[in-house]
Amino acid sequence: MSQATSSRSTWSSRWAFILVTIGSAVGLGNIWKFSYLAGASEGSVGVFVVVYLVCVALIGLPLLMAEILIGRRGRGNPVVAMLNTAEESGNSSWWALLGWVGIFGALMILSFYSVVSGWMVDYFWQSLVEGVYVNTAEEAKAAYDAMISDPLRLGLWHTVFMILTAGVVARGVVGGIEAANKIMLPLLFLILVLLTIWGAVAGDMPKALGFMFNLKTEAIKPGVVIDGMGHAFFSLSLGMGAIMAYGSYLDKKTNIGHTCVWIAAAGSFIGLLSGAAIFSLTFGYGLTPAAGPGLILQTLPLAFTYMPGGRLFAIFFFLFVIFAAWTSSISLLEPFVSWLTERYGIRRARAAWGTALPVWLLGLAVCLSFNKWSEFKIFGRILFELLDHLATRVMMPLSGLAIAIYVGWRLGKVIVVDEIRLKQRAFTLWFNVLRFIVPVGITLIFLYELVLRDWLK
Ligand code: PFF
Repeated sequence: MSQATSSRSTWSSRWAFILVTIGSAVGLGNIWKFSYLAGASEGSVGVFVVVYLVCVALIGLPLLMAEILIGRRGRGNPVVAMLNTAEESGNSSWWALLGWVGIFGALMILSFYSVVSGWMVDYFWQSLVEGVYVNTAEEAKAAYDAMISDPLRLGLWHTVFMILTAGVVARGVVGGIEAANKIMLPLLFLILVLLTIWGAVAGDMPKALGFMFNLKTEAIKPGVVIDGMGHAFFSLSLGMGAIMAYGSYLDKKTNIGHTCVWIAAAGSFIGLLSGAAIFSLTFGYGLTPAAGPGLILQTLPLAFTYMPGGRLFAIFFFLFVIFAAWTSSISLLEPFVSWLTERYGIRRARAAWGTALPVWLLGLAVCLSFNKWSEFKIFGRILFELLDHLATRVMMPLSGLAIAIYVGWRLGKVIVVDEIRLKQRAFTLWFNVLRFIVPVGITLIFLYELVLRDWLK
């Protein structure tokens, strides 16, 4: 029997939904991961960027629509939404497994996402109280290493970030998540525009754009193409129940197709803009962009030290990253919390704090994996790398693949047409891309990540 979900909240408008979903999409992925992945594909950055954009359009957008469709049709948390739609379409209840992978996968991501967000809070705090001043690249690296090797410091900021996250989710869908996004996203965008102009004046924007869009075809490596695809996935929050959970609070009138075009376009635009600001400063101060995952913490502080108004810039920059991370982390906590409240009738606040607790504990272990427990490796990876790898490289593509198969091949056209009210041609295009291109694309990423990457090295 379908599980009753009649008294669920709904976003206050279509724009509110667009805003919260952009909030989920734009996060550490667009700023922290994008800049180091682009920096790491030195020589074919343009290819990485173009592949990423093509994949946002060809894999991300169709999947975004499919996930929202399931959430809205199933009117429940990811587990219930899968159960309800499977029942309605005469499919096996085993499909609910997809919901389970989503709600647990999201918590896994949250455990290390919160730790990395904590780094940003740490740097924000430093900029605020004393300024981040470093004179050489070695000093910048030493400052970063000092933070990473201090479990108490990592734990403290991770704790602060988890409290921020649970605090919003505890306040509810409209009163918490929507309200927080309505404040943070416009501010985030405003700060970003400011930073981009500032970065263009103080740095070297032409060089940054040349770097980001230089399509040197002779330099295409297979790894770059597939990294671009994987990144499109992570940066659109796909396959982890977050989008499905948000879709479940969407009213029936909203046109999913049109809405998703906005979300995907705004998500990648904000990502590109922040990349342009970061690289403009990087080149303007003669730095190299290939510093790895610590790029924005090891490269930018040097620019902050020397640029005019650098300290204020740093404060705004880290505030921007924190807002971006915060609006994403709440979407990682929400799927499990909505499941707890709907399944057991637990009060939302209690469910939010109760879910945050084990995630926080796992996050503390992640903090330790950088220092005290750095010798302890599973499959050659410290806990931080293992969780990141498992969630973003294994669970996300697999569950995206299953969603494409489910909506494209199992759900039945009647339900799909009823939810996706696009004109005939647009609908056929979307449906065929979802049925053919998305599964093939994801299978390629997946094969590559599991088998080929190490092999191709
Ligand atoms: N899209 C977020 C980012 O780019 O930082 C990360 C993310 C959020 C991934 C929510 C998955 C998710 F369900």
